[in-house]
Amino acid sequence: MSTGPDGRAGVGVRLAGVGTALPTRTLTNEDLAGLVDTNDEWITQRTGIKTRYIAENGTTTRSLAVDSLRAAIDDAGMQPGELDMVLLATMTPEMSCPSTAARVVHEVGASPAGAMDLAAACSGFVYGLNHAAALIQTGHYKTVAVIGSETLSKITNYEDRRTCILFGDAAGAAILTADDDPARGCLAQTMRSEGSLWGELYVPRTPDDLPESHDGFTGRFNTLQMNGQEVFKFAVTTTQSIIDETLENAGVTPTDLAAVIPHQSNRRILELVKKRMDLPDGKLVINIDKYGNTSAASVPLCLNEKRRAGELSEGDLVLFVAIGGGMCWTTSLWRL
Ligand code: UT7
Repeated sequence: MSTGPDGRAGVGVRLAGVGTALPTRTLTNEDLAGLVDTNDEWITQRTGIKTRYIAENGTTTRSLAVDSLRAAIDDAGMQPGELDMVLLATMTPEMSCPSTAARVVHEVGASPAGAMDLAAACSGFVYGLNHAAALIQTGHYKTVAVIGSETLSKITNYEDRRTCILFGDAAGAAILTADDDPARGCLAQTMRSEGSLWGELYVPRTPDDLPESHDGFTGRFNTLQMNGQEVFKFAVTTTQSIIDETLENAGVTPTDLAAVIPHQSNRRILELVKKRMDLPDGKLVINIDKYGNTSAASVPLCLNEKRRAGELSEGDLVLFVAIGGGMCWTTSLWRL
């Protein structure tokens, strides 16, 4: 292990494996037009989404997480017992206790690895990457898995056309492990929140959970309530400023990046970011057409696609960025 600039042993972090899992059932824009007053043209133009996956009976946040983690372990060529810790980012955990992560660790055969659910909505996976990097860089943990797993269909109101067109179910996992090269890993990161804006995107369980002014409340508890226009505006400005800040802190320019992997919230938001960063086609990953917005799962779905396509190489700079309910927003800049 080499020595870092502060004289301590420098620990690098390597992306060892990635895996994903999807339910088998799909829900197309045409299917949605049979449920609510909408059509393929409106959904495509306003969101870029064509279809999304929906969990069938028996498929849960846990089962998708397990399948994605097994795939990531295979990709890494590791054994489950090598995991020290599993962070599971989700806004659709199975229960509040136990954590979904604890059962996932057991089911993949990784006990007694540490396990914890992480609640940062759509920012959850990138928050998880940042935490995993920090855990490994302390030297206390060698191998940490980060999973984003969601069954958003379970909290979606399929009578509300403003939200039901957006969301899909999926899971993705990444395995991070200590590396001898301290230049590898997370170079810069940010994790932010603005709780005063919580009422723009929330899932109320009881009347006590409603904001003072709840004009936009659909009347359906345990389903996602969203002020789409406000979230859209906030996402555009925040994503751009946090990217600028992160790149500046790291002394990196957009042309240095091999890929920008953003949370898939809306194609129009992503196109605006791409234009402002002046990125060529393909550098900012967009796959929302196939999966919709899968919250914490969207970033690992993109990462997996890039990796399987052979478009990421050792030494590449990759920027992850996400924003979601809370509001929470985050970046993570990695040298692979
Ligand atoms: O994951 C992070 C959190 N989420 C996001 O980042 C989502 C951010 N927001 C959005 O993606 C967009 O705001 C939406 C896709 C949710 C909505 O698109 P929009 O362009 O902001 O539409 P809008 O809410 O301004 O509605 C425009 C019109 C309205 O009709 P009127 O009042 O102009 O007659 C809506 O009633 O479109 C109507 N509309 C629809 N029409 C057909 C709303 N939903 C639909 C629909 N089909 N599904």
